[in-house]
Amino acid sequence: MLQQFDPRNKNIKVWVGHRLVERADAKVSVFDSSVQGGDAVWEGMRVYENGVFCLERHLDRLEDSARAMAFESIPTRASIKSAIKATLEANGMTKDTHIRLTLTRGEKITSGMDPRLNQSGPTLIVLAEWKPPVYDNETGIRIMTSTIRRNSPMHVDSKIHHNNLINNILAKIQANHAGVDSALMLDNLGFIAEMNGTNIFMVKNGRLLTPTADACLHGITRGLVIELAQANGVAVEERNISLTELYAADEAFGTGSMGELTPIVEVDGRVLVNRSQSNLTAQLIHWFQGVHEKLSTPLESL
Ligand SMILES: Cc1ncc(COP(=O)(O)O)c(C=O)c1O
Repeated sequence: MLQQFDPRNKNIKVWVGHRLVERADAKVSVFDSSVQGGDAVWEGMRVYENGVFCLERHLDRLEDSARAMAFESIPTRASIKSAIKATLEANGMTKDTHIRLTLTRGEKITSGMDPRLNQSGPTLIVLAEWKPPVYDNETGIRIMTSTIRRNSPMHVDSKIHHNNLINNILAKIQANHAGVDSALMLDNLGFIAEMNGTNIFMVKNGRLLTPTADACLHGITRGLVIELAQANGVAVEERNISLTELYAADEAFGTGSMGELTPIVEVDGRVLVNRSQSNLTAQLIHWFQGVHEKLSTPLESL
């Protein structure tokens, strides 16, 4: 699935640093730590009918990530919210929008890895684009297992939502070469971790299973799906899941802010067969859509 350029985004305004600039001028310095070392943290968020979905949860995770990376300073929540508001207002965006919120460690006084070279504070980027969910959530996606392992806490903790995305990108390249939509990544032990850009769930005999959040991002959509399932009396298991179990799943789907809930129809050439005739993915999509309004922060209160 290849995203296409949306002409509505041709002349968008982007927040970079402390101000809004035209798309053509939306740049960071070559001395910025994101250029030098992927030294930045980020969030992807959706705007639904006049509200930013799960905003506080995303800002909590951004702050946790920046603290884990020992950023010298982190902009206040109020200042991040007002940058988001200004960006959405400048672009007239009230729905169908995806926000990529990035906080880099900022500009360095000279090239180098040492964070002490960052002496002018972090750089905040609010990139809001017109972007409906990116996957085909009607027909679903085909995936394959990548040879690239997802980071474990032994290396770079996947609980930091950082910009060093090379392992995920390498996995996605393998999926592209294989002609499928997404790459499934395993953990160090060979259990399923997540896909290159989304978390993964499977359904077996009416139970909802997902890998423990050890070698995957603790996705906000993932957390919400677990909450919704439990609130509706569905049994949820967070545990190690092997590929063999996934091949025998009745249903499987990916979760993420970019694509919401996306059915998986095929894994490594095996078409999933729903032997228990369950309908949990569709139910979860319904419950998920039902909380959009309740869990969105209205633009006027930003
Ligand atoms: C690797 C990875 N997994 C999962 C997700 C989904 O997380 P969320 O539901 O918080 O959007 C993302 C989103 O950025 C991601 O990059």
